[in-house]
Amino acid sequence: MPGVNAAAILAASLEESFGPHLKSVCERTARALAACGYSGLLVHSGSLVPVFEDDRFHAFEAHAPFKVWAPVSDVPDSFVWFEPGLPPRLLIHRPEDYWHKPADPPAGYWVRHFDVRLAGDFGAARAALPASLAQAAYVGDTFAQLPAWGLKAVNPTALMRRLDYVRAAKTSYELTCLREANHLGARGHLAAHEAFAAGASGFDIELAFLKGCGLREQELPYNPIVALNAWGAVLHYQVLEKASPAHSHSLLIDAGAEFAGYASDITRTYSAEDAAFGALIERMDRMQQALCASVRAGVDWRDVHAQAHRLTGELLHDADLVRCGADEAVAAGVTRVFLPHGIGHLLGLEVHDVGGFMAAAEGGELPRPPGDPYLRLTRRLEDGFVVTMEPGIYFIPQLLEAARGDARGRLINWARVEGFMKFGGIRIEDDLAVTATGCENLTRDAFKAVAGSPAV
Ligand code: GLY
Ligand code: MN
Ligand code: MN
Repeated sequence: MPGVNAAAILAASLEESFGPHLKSVCERTARALAACGYSGLLVHSGSLVPVFEDDRFHAFEAHAPFKVWAPVSDVPDSFVWFEPGLPPRLLIHRPEDYWHKPADPPAGYWVRHFDVRLAGDFGAARAALPASLAQAAYVGDTFAQLPAWGLKAVNPTALMRRLDYVRAAKTSYELTCLREANHLGARGHLAAHEAFAAGASGFDIELAFLKGCGLREQELPYNPIVALNAWGAVLHYQVLEKASPAHSHSLLIDAGAEFAGYASDITRTYSAEDAAFGALIERMDRMQQALCASVRAGVDWRDVHAQAHRLTGELLHDADLVRCGADEAVAAGVTRVFLPHGIGHLLGLEVHDVGGFMAAAEGGELPRPPGDPYLRLTRRLEDGFVVTMEPGIYFIPQLLEAARGDARGRLINWARVEGFMKFGGIRIEDDLAVTATGCENLTRDAFKAVAGSPAV
């Protein structure tokens, strides 16, 4: 059975690669601590956030600086204590509680690399730490007892930015997790596409996605964007209609899964029956693949973004959406009417991962190009970076109306635009692992791997 074999390969890969991953996290953390003048680091998984004036809590999301150490995404008020030269200590919060199920003692491929302790409350956690924390830094949420713990610094920016900077390049273990997050996401997308083809509502398409991934909504890295018809023009459309539209012309679905704390971020766009919109999607797919082919270590992401605008100009010209050449469409700002977001971002423990603008581990910022306020990455790519590639064109009434009233208006073929308004837009998004000579397309590989394999 292919599923069993894949599961065994994944388990072996996690088992083998976690130790070197943790070693790398220890080494880079030791360097950052030495550079910033701390002797140790205490990282918090995060606190539960209460619902206003109730005794319930918002869904918990563990902090990424904690998850980089251990794949524990669901246990608040836990800690990692790291002192260079010693094995990291993991304090799992395990209260006596008959209202909720306390966390199980951790198990799995990663646990033997830690000195694991269970702590019922903050007092027990403090007792499991060194007597003096006077030279240590803390990263996490503050809580009432924290000042008495006597740490040297709470959330010191210079240390945190150094740790962010190095998260961009993934270890082999992290790449395994990101591949698996793409496998789960691809399964979800296939199920969502089937639901769309059967005329499902946005709500039912999301349910199909969740079932396909085998995840509940709070386990996803972000809320799925399920945009039927003209709603595709709302970039982060957040409504899930319970009723199907009278006609399902198109679906733009941007949805990812999470594995061991790592995210996938995947978008597909489908046309139900319209051949012209179907052809436009295929044209965008070819453009997206051309952009993926330009990705390799050493490339400045701002150049990829600029190239995306040139290719968007060509696409708009070829599709007869503009009455000018590609260069004029870019120069006049017309491509920015149709593509008003950045071409991609770092991906990892957070869907929009940290450190996208950093000039160096020590600090400094690489600015966004003028006119691109939503670009989330300005760094030069390095081997091991994982980025999204997400070109699109959208028919956004607000932006089109603004363009109609100025010099851009005469460059747009309004009759042609009108014919596409009911589809909202197109986005195609894959996750790419950068290498010295190119990139590994985690998403396309995942779709190929899961096609025809048993559901989770
Ligand atoms: N899912 C949000 C994004 O693509 O950036
Ligand atoms: Mn994205
Ligand atoms: Mn996305």
